[in-house]
Amino acid sequence: MSEKAILEIDGKKYEFPIITGTENEKAIDIKALRGATGGITTIDPGYKNTGSCESAITFLNGGEEGILRYRGYSIEELADKADFLEVAYLLIFGELPTQSQLDKFHADIKANSHVDEDVKKILDGFPKSAHPMGVLSSLTSALIAFNPTSVNVDSEEDMYNAIVKIMGKFPVLVAWALRKRTGQPLDYGDDSLGYVDNILKMMFKKPNSEYVVDPIVSKALDKLLILHADHEQNCSTSTVRIVGSSHAGLFASLSAGICALWGPLHGGANQAVLEMLEGIKEDGGDTKKYMAKAKDKNDPFRLMGFGHRVYKNFDPRAKIIKVAADDVLNSLGVDDPILEIAKGLEKEALEDPYFVDRKLYPNVDFYSGIIYRAMGIPVEMFTVMFALGRLPGWIAQWKEMRENKEPIGRPRQVYTGENSRSFKEVSER
Ligand code: ACO
Repeated sequence: MSEKAILEIDGKKYEFPIITGTENEKAIDIKALRGATGGITTIDPGYKNTGSCESAITFLNGGEEGILRYRGYSIEELADKADFLEVAYLLIFGELPTQSQLDKFHADIKANSHVDEDVKKILDGFPKSAHPMGVLSSLTSALIAFNPTSVNVDSEEDMYNAIVKIMGKFPVLVAWALRKRTGQPLDYGDDSLGYVDNILKMMFKKPNSEYVVDPIVSKALDKLLILHADHEQNCSTSTVRIVGSSHAGLFASLSAGICALWGPLHGGANQAVLEMLEGIKEDGGDTKKYMAKAKDKNDPFRLMGFGHRVYKNFDPRAKIIKVAADDVLNSLGVDDPILEIAKGLEKEALEDPYFVDRKLYPNVDFYSGIIYRAMGIPVEMFTVMFALGRLPGWIAQWKEMRENKEPIGRPRQVYTGENSRSFKEVSER
């Protein structure tokens, strides 16, 4: 017999089905709630208890084990064995690609990796000091004007073409956002390179010298992009889905997702972590002082890179990144005192009752900035690198939402304002 939830309001009972996901997660299906109860709604700010959709893309479990799987494959195995483009294909199309599917995907992306020259004029209009996340969001939105045909979501071919288009053009915009900031001439990269190697070349090639890809840097970036590639219904992904639910196009939805990612409570945390660690270093490296600040409810300071809405144990991505940070810094011969401060903070936090009781553990962003910095990526670009990694996840989620023909996202509210009152002429106010 299927399970049911019973809700009693003023002595009247209502039954709602319980649906069970493939990992045995249960959810009370309240689709019929308002209709059955004559307009009663639920309230859940921050959606801490509310599922917005059924999704077959990413599974995460924040419990003891700290599980993250894309399409059933563990993040540990993917980070170890796959490359970013394979993971992108997996997320978007549901299965790991065969060699010929992967070759075609890459070839089609390369064929679409040119951005209209006029986009450079838009980029020119930004001050050099503009935050690259704002630049990236604007340029992603601007791409709509240069690719105005709307995608017929019922056509597999149309969907595929839109996907390879954005997978090709997005890294160009990322690289240009960096080059604008560093005053370097814009670069289009090199079709003979792999996807990630080409991104590095587009970002770092100097106009007067050859760019040779460092395999250590390339491998580390590939891994970081995989770790960031999807994370089910987080703030930016939910934004992408909800914007797309109004049937706004893919590029418009992605541009909105970039803005959502920018905030320091979400993707912007990687920049905030590094700035925090720098600040602690400059202040004499006293981690205890900052631990006390983080625990003081009268102090707005939070330990950036700690805590997660879903993981109430170690973020599995943080475990992988911590090891990668050690490896990359050793391989590149970088001795960054910030890494020691980060490890010190982590050790103290993991032993501190405030953090232990609230189940606050390092998240994906705690160590990623240290690796980005060792690669020579400026701190303001860290969240842009996150966006680059998250692109396939956003695409996959947008595609799923459209293919599932989800209704427009339109939450309810409980109104707490004034009751009806008569207008007062200005002379009477
Ligand atoms: N430092 C100090 N205290 C914290 C922190 C932190 N980083 N995070 C949570 N807390 C405390 C809160 O003050 C609250 O304490 P209380 O119960 O005494 O009031 C308790 O822990 C629960 O915190 P909430 O903010 O209610 O948890 P929520 O799930 O809403 O927030 C979030 C999760 C936003 C990630 C939060 O932990 C945070 O601000 N972390 C720092 C920013 C960060 O690293 N963001 C990146 C997240 S990962 C990502 O987006 C890729």
